[in-house]
Amino acid sequence: MEARENWRSRWGFVLAAAGSAVGLGNLWGFAYKASQGGGAAFLMIYLLIVFIVCIPVLIAEMVLGRSTGKSPLIAPVVAAGSQWRPLGLLFVVASCGILSFYAVLMGWTLDTFFHSFFFGLPNNLDEAKLFISSVSKGSSVFLGQLASLFLTAAVVASGIRNGIEKLARWSMPFLFGVVILLAIWSATLPGAISGYQEFLLKWDTSEFLNPETIRLAFGQAFFSLSLGIGIIVAYSSYLNRNNQLPKEAFWISGLDTSVGILAGMITFPIIASFPQVKEVVGGDFVDTLFVALPTGLSSLGLTGQIISVLFFGLIFIAGLTSAISLLEVPVSSLIDQFGFTRSKAISLCTALIFIIGIPSALSSKTLGTVATYMDILLLLGGFVISILMGWFVTRKFDEDLANSNSNLRVRKYTKFMLRWVCPPAIAFGLIMSIIDVL
Ligand code: TRP
Repeated sequence: MEARENWRSRWGFVLAAAGSAVGLGNLWGFAYKASQGGGAAFLMIYLLIVFIVCIPVLIAEMVLGRSTGKSPLIAPVVAAGSQWRPLGLLFVVASCGILSFYAVLMGWTLDTFFHSFFFGLPNNLDEAKLFISSVSKGSSVFLGQLASLFLTAAVVASGIRNGIEKLARWSMPFLFGVVILLAIWSATLPGAISGYQEFLLKWDTSEFLNPETIRLAFGQAFFSLSLGIGIIVAYSSYLNRNNQLPKEAFWISGLDTSVGILAGMITFPIIASFPQVKEVVGGDFVDTLFVALPTGLSSLGLTGQIISVLFFGLIFIAGLTSAISLLEVPVSSLIDQFGFTRSKAISLCTALIFIIGIPSALSSKTLGTVATYMDILLLLGGFVISILMGWFVTRKFDEDLANSNSNLRVRKYTKFMLRWVCPPAIAFGLIMSIIDVL
């Protein structure tokens, strides 16, 4: 058995967790889901879920990881007994399932990045359709998927400090910088205001009761914060006592939510500013990001090409810092449970994840379906975690937070929410999601 590592610094952990949170889900999923009709209602439900439901669950996952010092597969068992084994299994299954399609999406992003860089952008819709089919069909998909998994495995193989933490430390500040610059640039476009109106400000009261909007907001909140499947448990198991977890949870959710909103402020003005792309928006989910953006940007010539290269490069890096967190769940679990070496665990998991990702690589419709079901698993995981930490491991929970000197009122609030608010709220989201999917 290798000795258990820990994070080099407090910020290393926060940035790695924020790196896990900020990913394709923010840069593309958030804006896309907001544009599905929910508009301002989606945004408000989303923010409410993040601050009322997700932050307590985030803290619960952190405590579960830190207090046991174990990987997601066995942390629930160590904390509360062997009847909680299925929760650990759910973590491992769901993280492999998510990474299987996530790697395909990363592959498309990587292909679009290279395509923008070497061959330029499509000038009209016909060229755009050709562009997307060269990116999302045929052998380039498998190449992109393999390259993404390979890079992910390489970072995870370097371990916590030298792999995950190091990548997060240099990439996250860069990422925030570029997102802010791009949002400012987008604000200068002629369609900026109408872009914002379509995205953040479109008001329709009936959307508050629309099961689809509720499902999308719940799924997006959990997906975006990497909640419900043990990612935070895995990362927190490498923590020591001096992190005040509620504070870290606020930072992580704040950073994640800002990047989601900023990403919408980048994409929607672009889409609204270039009339030729209007036609594709709202269609298939591939179209919005992978066709509309490059096509719109092409009318700006070289500037457009540079923006496209920057934007897709940025998305890829954000995806990579998320993918490593997904891989860390099964990898750390195999190491803890069976005493595998890190490299053996990584080879095994990566190969398996590649294979289960093949159907998603072959059809974007399958990919969408897998993603929808995975969102439901996240909610299920979040529900069980709040019951576990709110009702079954209460002593450990209190002690862990007290030992790190967190503010007493914050602790009381978190516990109250975890016991009385999170379970019914998540159950509501879960039921609405199931109704909507059926
Ligand atoms: N949060 C990431 C994103 O927004 C994706 C992700 C990483 C994730 N780890 C996760 C989603 C765990 C759900 C669960 O793109």
